[in-house]
Amino acid sequence: MEPVPNVTRREFMAAGSVVALAAAGEAAAPPAEGVIGPLVGHTDTAAAFLWARLPAPGEYTLSVRRGDGTGTGTEYAAEATADTDLTAKWHVRGLRPATRYVVDLKGGRPCSFTTPPASETPARVTIALGSCADEDAGTRAVWTRMASEKPDAVVLAGDTPYIDSTDLAKQRTRHRAFAAVAEYQELLAARPFWSTWDDHDFGRNDADGTLKGKENSRQAFTEYRAQPSYGDGTGGIYTAFRWGPVEVFLIDARWWSWTGPSFADPAKKTLLGRAQWDWLRKALAASTAPFKVLAVGCVWEDKKNKEKDHWETYLHERDALFAFVKEKRIGGVVLFGGDIHVTRLLKYPPEFVGYPLYDFISSPMHARVIPSLNVKHPYLVESKVQPNTFLTLTADTTIKPATLTARFLDKDGKSLFTDTTVTLDELTPPAPR
Ligand SMILES: [Fe+2]
Repeated sequence: MEPVPNVTRREFMAAGSVVALAAAGEAAAPPAEGVIGPLVGHTDTAAAFLWARLPAPGEYTLSVRRGDGTGTGTEYAAEATADTDLTAKWHVRGLRPATRYVVDLKGGRPCSFTTPPASETPARVTIALGSCADEDAGTRAVWTRMASEKPDAVVLAGDTPYIDSTDLAKQRTRHRAFAAVAEYQELLAARPFWSTWDDHDFGRNDADGTLKGKENSRQAFTEYRAQPSYGDGTGGIYTAFRWGPVEVFLIDARWWSWTGPSFADPAKKTLLGRAQWDWLRKALAASTAPFKVLAVGCVWEDKKNKEKDHWETYLHERDALFAFVKEKRIGGVVLFGGDIHVTRLLKYPPEFVGYPLYDFISSPMHARVIPSLNVKHPYLVESKVQPNTFLTLTADTTIKPATLTARFLDKDGKSLFTDTTVTLDELTPPAPR
């Protein structure tokens, strides 16, 4: 875990001046020139990160109060400096589950968020996921559509945005331009989001962990993403979060890829790296979430082009991961992938993890489709070459058996093909003989 950003906390009573400020924040006033955000980062049942990019160095105070008007507000201060490209993160604590909060930052846009339900409470939650985004009109339409689907949380799975450089100034400029898009802020100032990266935000097409300057990419990522942790604290960006009945594991398939021998087969190269493998096994085995999403920027099978940045290059590690899930009898696992600018649904037979393994591939949010990557695969159920698309996963544990519903949507909210509903029973390992 990376140390929490330097923040201070000051309690205050919800006095008249503060309420007036809060009311102004609720109005649809345009944000003052130069402030991006505040946006909502990692959120759990008791704490949240708020994020913003400020116009000048200094200490900035943000206030958080309950959305129902009860209780006292709390102020938090955070520093924006040139060292973090004038980005700041406020670590908000003492929150309650399933509760709405309103955030006020002077000069910032209206912002509010709701904490997740207590983990073991039956709930119906929706997470929106997408990959491959720009600042173009099509992507902006996707942000707006995502918001109207009212997801509880958002996952950006790489090429979010396209950067194609490890130069720190370029990395920061691109992240800043991406975050400055009004529709993006509209979506992410109202619910938390998390990210992993793919090749273009890591630094170059088809890049692996031998890429020079990757430390700069990681620095910009840590500045522009308010996540609970970034990889092992010194390298990589993998992390995980829990939202009611779902836990999402955001895998980093770039930082350690091709950097050394694999834990699964020393004669071959690694994808995950030892630290991430140890973390993933431990976190998966410890997870009490009924549904577990393994999200990665690339795809879990052969892309069938000349590039090597897919799990096919590292099948020894995919086999090890699947075998681990099967051996430990970890139920409720589904896969998510992006990258290929084609939408696909695959269903692996039970021999891999002990029960059918669904693989949801959603790409792109922009319009640049790649029809040639819509290739044959023995486990392919559905596929579509579709611009401006994203996925929603809805988990419902208020019914028995609990269900997970996947909807691949276009920017108009139309399903690309029949929605997939899987029961938790179907994703349960068979009883040991
Ligand atoms: Fe892409």
